[in-house]
Amino acid sequence: MIDPGFFRRVLGNFPTGVAVITGLDAGGAPVGLAVGSFASASLDPPLVAFFPDRSSSSWPRIAATGRFCVNILGFDQEAVCRTFAVRGGDKFAELSWRSAPSGAPVLDGVVAWIDCDLEAVHPAGDHDLVLGRVRTLDVGRSVLPLVFFQGGYGRFSPLSLAAWEGDLAVQLRTADLARPQLEDLAARFAAECVASAAVGDEMVLVANASAGSSGELAPRVGQRIPFLPPLGTAFVAWAGPLARRAWLDRAGKDSPPGTVAALEETLAQVRAAGYSVGRGRDWHGALNTVLAKADPTDPADPGHDAIRRLIRSLPPGYESPAVASPEGQVPRRHADELRTLSAPVFGRDGTAVLVLTLIGVHRPLDGGGDDPVAALRAAAATVTTALGGAQPT
Ligand SMILES: Cc1cc2nc3c(=O)[nH]c(=O)nc-3n(C[C@H](O)[C@H](O)[C@H](O)COP(=O)(O)O)c2cc1C
Repeated sequence: MIDPGFFRRVLGNFPTGVAVITGLDAGGAPVGLAVGSFASASLDPPLVAFFPDRSSSSWPRIAATGRFCVNILGFDQEAVCRTFAVRGGDKFAELSWRSAPSGAPVLDGVVAWIDCDLEAVHPAGDHDLVLGRVRTLDVGRSVLPLVFFQGGYGRFSPLSLAAWEGDLAVQLRTADLARPQLEDLAARFAAECVASAAVGDEMVLVANASAGSSGELAPRVGQRIPFLPPLGTAFVAWAGPLARRAWLDRAGKDSPPGTVAALEETLAQVRAAGYSVGRGRDWHGALNTVLAKADPTDPADPGHDAIRRLIRSLPPGYESPAVASPEGQVPRRHADELRTLSAPVFGRDGTAVLVLTLIGVHRPLDGGGDDPVAALRAAAATVTTALGGAQPT
């Protein structure tokens, strides 16, 4: 006899997604339960599977109607999972949902849903193996899914962006190395100069220096914004194809046709120029407003969705330096719009460990006097050398 606790502990090493199986009972009331045993089973015919416990109180009520919907939860829906992992009761009291074609509930905010007719139920020990024939299915919110592993919840993170995983220790040490450069640039151009690191799916501001007279809202250390296209090109432009692909995938499936090609073009332009820009005072104003409202400690705060929507509304060439002339000069008519200039600092393995950004260089980059683009790139190169790093060729 295998010890049940040991069985669970060993099997807990296999990570699963989390789905909520929903349906209507015979009286038309919504019912559901959380499962980690959902899987795709067959393409032709289209079948999916999961294993309900024989002791489940909700599953028999759903099964009696012969229809159910599988709801794949997003990374920020742990609370929804917990609600549906409780036995019986009205689990829908606090939730919004709409009906799938079968009538079964599609929960708000899910990553995907699969509406099914009950195809077969096979006994499987103290569980049943349920097969559902897919009637219709769709993707929902394009966010990372919720993952269950070793008894805890987490989220998926693409390996190809693993260069930017981990804690902030390395980036913070590097930011210390960059501090004299940040202060020098801020003073020379009467601007803000900040260093950011990419960590997982966010860019985090790790150091800042301010000349105090730029009139810009000073961004705070610790401020995070999503590492989502079209933002973050200075991190990605020199990265390998897998990391670039993972970043491009974050543009989401709903982006207009041609977006990925346009983003790739922007990356090529950033690489060729050696820096990226950020335009649009209005956009930065709107971003600061939503950032100020969203609670960074609460991933379920709707403000985070507002930030993502705002970023996704930007054109793919938002950070492109291509309006600049070959010498890196920006025509006068763009100077008002120009708000940030960014250049990467490379580590030993050629990964962009930090991006240095000058914010609020008000004068046109007309090539006269002290050139902020040249100064920023020189500063980034100095920090790269101090790190023993090198720009990938
Ligand atoms: C991450 C996770 C995965 C779960 N996977 C399953 C599963 O595959 N099958 C199952 O019957 N119960 C699973 N459960 C437990 C049920 O959600 C739980 O027993 C629930 O109380 C059942 O509700 P019910 O009695 O209303 O049917 C899981 C729970 C969690 C938190």
